[in-house]
Amino acid sequence: MAARLIKGTEVAKEIREELKKEVEELKEKHGIEPGLVTILVGEDPASVSYVTAKQRTSKELGFYSIQDNQPVDISEEALLALIDKYNKDPKIHGILVQLPLPKHIDETKVLYAIDPKKDVDAFHPVNVGKLLIGEPDFLPCTPHGIWQLLIRSGVQIEGSEVVVVGRSNIVGKPIAAILMQKVPNANATVTVCHTRTKDMAFHTRRADILIVAAGRPKAITADMVKDGAVVIDVGVNRIGKTPEGKAILVGDVDFEEVKEKASAITPVPGGVGPMTITMLMFNTVKAAKLAAGVAK
Ligand code: GUN
Repeated sequence: MAARLIKGTEVAKEIREELKKEVEELKEKHGIEPGLVTILVGEDPASVSYVTAKQRTSKELGFYSIQDNQPVDISEEALLALIDKYNKDPKIHGILVQLPLPKHIDETKVLYAIDPKKDVDAFHPVNVGKLLIGEPDFLPCTPHGIWQLLIRSGVQIEGSEVVVVGRSNIVGKPIAAILMQKVPNANATVTVCHTRTKDMAFHTRRADILIVAAGRPKAITADMVKDGAVVIDVGVNRIGKTPEGKAILVGDVDFEEVKEKASAITPVPGGVGPMTITMLMFNTVKAAKLAAGVAK
């Protein structure tokens, strides 16, 4: 039987509608206007398109938003000074520096310079640590998007066997930390597989929920999936272009095969992807509320 599709495009839209209402209320009741700055260094086409989408969404939701474009040869010192300026700007609640940065800039140094209270990517070690001890202010956007997809699709998470393929700082490690939290809609038993895992299929076949962020097309085939599993595909692989010049995207899961075995699956595109930007907006609203002391 073919799996139910978990449509990120629709869930993301639902969350954005909730956020839009919340922003209107924050403005009316508290005079708070969430502020987001997106800093882009250089003109990498993929980065330009991500940042453009982030700006467009923030404006749709009624944020105060700034797009700060810097030349590719900006010095590390000048970029750090720019971050310091936004750290001190009371109209700005969220600072996003689009990655990757040019080679001459130390990415870690830049991410560490962002005030953790304005770190809407949740990449700063303070926010990583807070998640790990179960006291997060912000959750990183892609893992938070995955969690919301599972919750809002009615997937049973508590007590389930979750297997994560991939151990990146951006997806694998934080989604494991989120789903093992002692909070409602988490409390899962989590296994993390990676490139040195001895028998990957042994683990993936045990998964009630299989989350794949391996960075490789067809890393997961049908024989690696349990009947009725929920499969979340985080992969974005560009495998060519259409005759019209549009990128052809596939995930890390062999979708055609696995959809016949899973009970639910995310498509690529239209699955996890649309959730990431939406959760960035969620974090910016949260940052604004925390700054004003009105967060629930
Ligand atoms: N580049 C690709 N994805 C991301 C992201 O989630 N945040 C930032 N800052 N840069 C990125």
